[in-house]
Amino acid sequence: MDEYRYREYDFNDPPKIQILLESVIYGLAGRFVYRPVIDLLCLEKYKSILDFGCGGGFLIKRISGLFGDDVEITGIDSSRFYINAARKRLKDKKNIKLLCGEIDELVLNQDLFDIAIINYVLHDIRPNRRKNIIRSLAKCSKSICAHEPLRPSHGIKATKLRSLFLSVGMKEKSFKQNCSRYIGIWERSSGS
Ligand SMILES: C[S@@+](CC[C@H](N)C(=O)[O-])C[C@H]1O[C@@H](n2cnc3c(N)ncnc32)[C@H](O)[C@@H]1O
Repeated sequence: MDEYRYREYDFNDPPKIQILLESVIYGLAGRFVYRPVIDLLCLEKYKSILDFGCGGGFLIKRISGLFGDDVEITGIDSSRFYINAARKRLKDKKNIKLLCGEIDELVLNQDLFDIAIINYVLHDIRPNRRKNIIRSLAKCSKSICAHEPLRPSHGIKATKLRSLFLSVGMKEKSFKQNCSRYIGIWERSSGS
């Protein structure tokens, strides 16, 4: 039996305690929480970055602080609550675009982004929606960086995660994994 259970959260109306915890975890401790993703982004010169499931924009703020205004950053989140929080947090930034909606319903050009980041989002998406979402991300981005928790109590199974990317014609370029976390870069296989 698969011990991984999907738990549905209402991201449009999160409890106050969750909002408070997020501002501590993502805001104050963001330097540590986002470190694996930031380290990967520092290895290459990306000009356009998508933060898929950007939440309140904490990671975008960090990326923008690090790489300056010549990197175009787009945040997409399906939650109106979180996109509004990101808009407030990032209101002075001209190189940042924030879109609310489902990625497979937004009109996005092929290869619009050099890289799409999925930071702690995939495990929060209903399992029957995941493949369509990865397929859409694989069309609009040349590569995808996925950083996800692997714990059965709150996470996604590493083999499931890999089979999702493989099923839309992507190959794993590099990865790091331990018992609690996975981070990897995926690219389209030649011919896909
Ligand atoms: C745990 S939070 C992570 C936020 C952010 N990536 C970070 O690391 O700070 C998960 C986010 O995924 C978003 N999300 C869930 N399902 C989504 C979907 N189908 N499309 C886009 N965003 C989604 C939620 O609204 C929420 O903001």
